[in-house]
This record gives sequence, structure tokens and C-alpha cells, in this order.
Amino acid sequence: DDFLATVAEKSNGAALRGDYEKADEHYVVEQDWAAYTEEQHALWRKLYQRQMELLPGRACDEFIAALHKMDAADGIPRFERTSEELFAATGWRIVAVPGLIPELTFFEHLANRRFPITVWLRKPEEFNYIVEPDVFHDYFGHVPMLFNPIFADYMQLYGKGGLKAMKLGGLDYLARLYWYTVEFGLIRTDQGLRIYGAGILSSGGEVEYCLKPGTTSRHIHLDIERCLQTLYKIDSYQETYFVIDDFQQLFDGTAPDFTPYYERLKQLDALPANTLLPGEVELLP
Ligand code: PHE
Ligand code: FE
Repeated sequence: DDFLATVAEKSNGAALRGDYEKADEHYVVEQDWAAYTEEQHALWRKLYQRQMELLPGRACDEFIAALHKMDAADGIPRFERTSEELFAATGWRIVAVPGLIPELTFFEHLANRRFPITVWLRKPEEFNYIVEPDVFHDYFGHVPMLFNPIFADYMQLYGKGGLKAMKLGGLDYLARLYWYTVEFGLIRTDQGLRIYGAGILSSGGEVEYCLKPGTTSRHIHLDIERCLQTLYKIDSYQETYFVIDDFQQLFDGTAPDFTPYYERLKQLDALPANTLLPGEVELLP
């Protein structure tokens, strides 16, 4: 269909990894948990254990606390179980998808408090690095934060904002906000900077890198319009991390109508990923 054709084009003809044959009109499939092999469960456990060693003192408390309530330690989890616990906590559900899905479908899921999770797991040789999101990234990285009521509300609003941005020509800008918050966001706590972004928390190297003093990356306070204007790197560690003070600030800061932002940004050039503007303060001494 259209979506698969577009993706194939973007990736130079390489097909998407998932099996889209059995997907319904929302791209939802059965997880088919029984089909995972023992080798795959073992690989999951290795991924899980490596991340768990890195998280203390780096991941935010909300993430770690929720992870312990989840079903992630013993192998690839059954989505249904977590989905029930998540629904009880914040009214979100997990749905299984074959892999990447169209933007419209993705936003519709979020707007209805459904988080799509890829069913397949990376190969052993992709232990440290993977191009497309797999079940480890989607489940381990994203689901814990959905147990936080404010963050859960933010994600739903983001989905609604995505549907709106599609009509306003604002998608390129809004995607940067997702990238720099949901995927690569940092939060300031009394103990120092902590990670809440799924892209960092599911990656071995960047968990350490992003909080290391003295790197070439900057750590600056999240200003929404500035973030919407900022390009990002998809093939290296981030050159800028945006820092929030708390999740309420993230929710409140994104609540206003973005229409004027989009209108202004269309008149401006995007900022390179390594920009530091006059007056911006490095938050990692
Ligand atoms: N308030 C934004 C708008 O009007 C939508 C949005 C909410 C975007 C939350 C991101 C996060 O477009
Ligand atoms: Fe992700």
C-alpha cells in the first residue's frame, strides 16, 4: 500500500522488517507470544540486564519504579499482562504492531491512549545498535513512563497534536518535540540530571554518554518553540539534550495552540543540532 511504498522508497528499496500481512486497518496484530524462541528470550534478558546495571543514578525514579512493576525481567513480556496493569494505572493500553506504522495511525493510537509496540526483536548482532525500533526499545524504553499520570496525559495530547499538525503543515516541527522529549528527554532532580527519554534508556552507550560532563553535547532548558526549530541527529548521540524541571512543566508548556509556532517557524531556518543560542545555559557542569 501507500505507506509501505513510501517507506521502501525512503530506505532505498529495502523492505520494512515486519510482517504486515495480518495487520488490521489500524496496523494492529496479535503478539503471538508463543512464537518467540528461547534464544530470543535469552537475548532479551541480556539486553534487560545490561540496561538495569546502567540505570541507577541515571534513569529518573518514575521510570525505575514502573519498570519493577512490569513484566520485563524474565524474557520477552506478554503485552496483554502489562496492558492490563497499565490500564489500571493510567488508562493506557498496549497494542502490538508489525513494525513502523504510518504517522496518521500512530497519532490515532496515541490520541486514544493506545501505545503501539513492535512485535519483533533485534538480532544478536544488533545488540548495541538498531536502526528501526524493535520490541525492546518500544516496551522497555516507552512503557514505564506511561505509568506516570502526567506523562501519560502528555502522550495523548501529543497524539492529538500530531493529527492537528498534519493539517497545519507542522509535522516536521512537532516530530522534533517528540524526539527531544519522549525519545531523548532529560529531567532535573535534586540529585542531578536524570533520563526519561526512551531512545536513551533502551540504548547501552547513550545512557552513559548523555550525563557525562565534558562531552561536546549541550544540556539546555527545554523551550518549546526553540525545540520545534531544532534539527536532530538520527545516526549519532544527540548534540543537544533538552532538560525539563518536571512533567507538569512539559504538559503545561505544550498545552497552548501550536498554530502560531508553526506559522512563525515556516518563516525561519531550522537550527542545527549543535546550536547554542546567546543566553542559553549549559546545565551539566
Ligand atoms: N498544543 C499543541 C497544539 O495545539 C498540541 C500538543 C500537545 C503538541 C502536547 C505536543 C504535545 O498543536
Ligand atoms: Fe521510540
